Amino acid sequence: MITSILETIGNTPLITIPNSNKANEGQVLFKYERYNPGGSIKDRAAMYLVTEAERRGLLKPGGTIIESSSGNFGISLAMIGAAKGYHVIVLVDPKTTNANLALLKGFGAEVIVVTQQDDSGSYHKTRISLANKLAREIPNSYRPDQCFNLLNSEAHFKSTAREILNNCPSDLAVVIAAVSTGGQLGGISKYLKTFAPDVQIIGVDAVGSAIFGGHMDSYRIPGVGLGWTPINLNMDYIDRTYKVTDEQAFLTARAFARHEGILMGPSSGACALVALHVAQELTPDQRIVCMIADGGERYIQTLFNDDWMEEQGFATLADMETIRAMARQQQPWSVNPADYANHRSDLIQSLEVPDSTLHMNAEVQQRANFSQGSSVYLD
Ligand SMILES: Cc1ncc(COP(=O)(O)O)c(C=O)c1O
Repeated sequence: MITSILETIGNTPLITIPNSNKANEGQVLFKYERYNPGGSIKDRAAMYLVTEAERRGLLKPGGTIIESSSGNFGISLAMIGAAKGYHVIVLVDPKTTNANLALLKGFGAEVIVVTQQDDSGSYHKTRISLANKLAREIPNSYRPDQCFNLLNSEAHFKSTAREILNNCPSDLAVVIAAVSTGGQLGGISKYLKTFAPDVQIIGVDAVGSAIFGGHMDSYRIPGVGLGWTPINLNMDYIDRTYKVTDEQAFLTARAFARHEGILMGPSSGACALVALHVAQELTPDQRIVCMIADGGERYIQTLFNDDWMEEQGFATLADMETIRAMARQQQPWSVNPADYANHRSDLIQSLEVPDSTLHMNAEVQQRANFSQGSSVYLD
């Protein structure tokens, strides 16, 4: 018997895509994170950060969790808060969908919509600094700080990456993941470069984001992107990066719903498009694990709404052959990603990152066995 919903986090399935992946090319496996109880990959990091905070006495019974999140991480925290009895405050922005807002409120979270844009035209910095201010003001509060907390990537080092390698031990050739805080890509890449260094790691971002370098511009893909390279992501572990346009990401996600019966959000559409591109370069004995970070229900009013798609100037339908042709035409943004790293250590001071986060980071960095990946650390 399962004694708490939180025990069902992780151990998500790997799923083949027979209607889109040809027999004579690399085999794509979707790691389908929608099966987490909060509906996305973010349950893993949220659970890890909350558990570690409890263990350190940073989060006490009756406490408040405060976080800046475009949706999924906040939803995960709201679910965990509901299960464990914490008050949860989530700072979102106008790009957050009504479905996500309803889910946050459904789990009992308090939602603050931050409407002031930062100097890069996005909301990340304004959301983060307001969350930090609230954490200073509200007694008995804990700020997981997914963007600046190294425990975020450590969560994926310990769970997501280990599952991938355990389930795909011999013929894993490539892992593909989207990026925002760098938690999943950072943790997975560090683990695989330690235990299976021949596996190629590919990062996917939105055209308009600056994580892999380049200039910031507006984009519509929720959950991905940032104006800088996050500290959870070491670009030395990344072999190739791609940037996908909004329309391509949305159309690919829609095509997978129709042609494979697999619901996914736009960030996963971007990853799936890159996976189809890579598959066409590889042979059937080579496996490509593609992270599908969440399901599609939470984008019902945008991604799966024809009127909304048309308002954005996007096409509404593309068959799988059109998507495969689009995939073939993808070009890497970079094949030497480390040269484009855009880390911003100054933000730690200007955004007033909490001391508790900095202490945790020092601890994570000091664990020599993290970088060496010893089994002691993993347990
Ligand atoms: C749907 C979705 N995809 C991808 C990401 C990026 O993951 P990470 O923040 O671990 O880089 C997020 C993060 O919020 C997300 O919600």
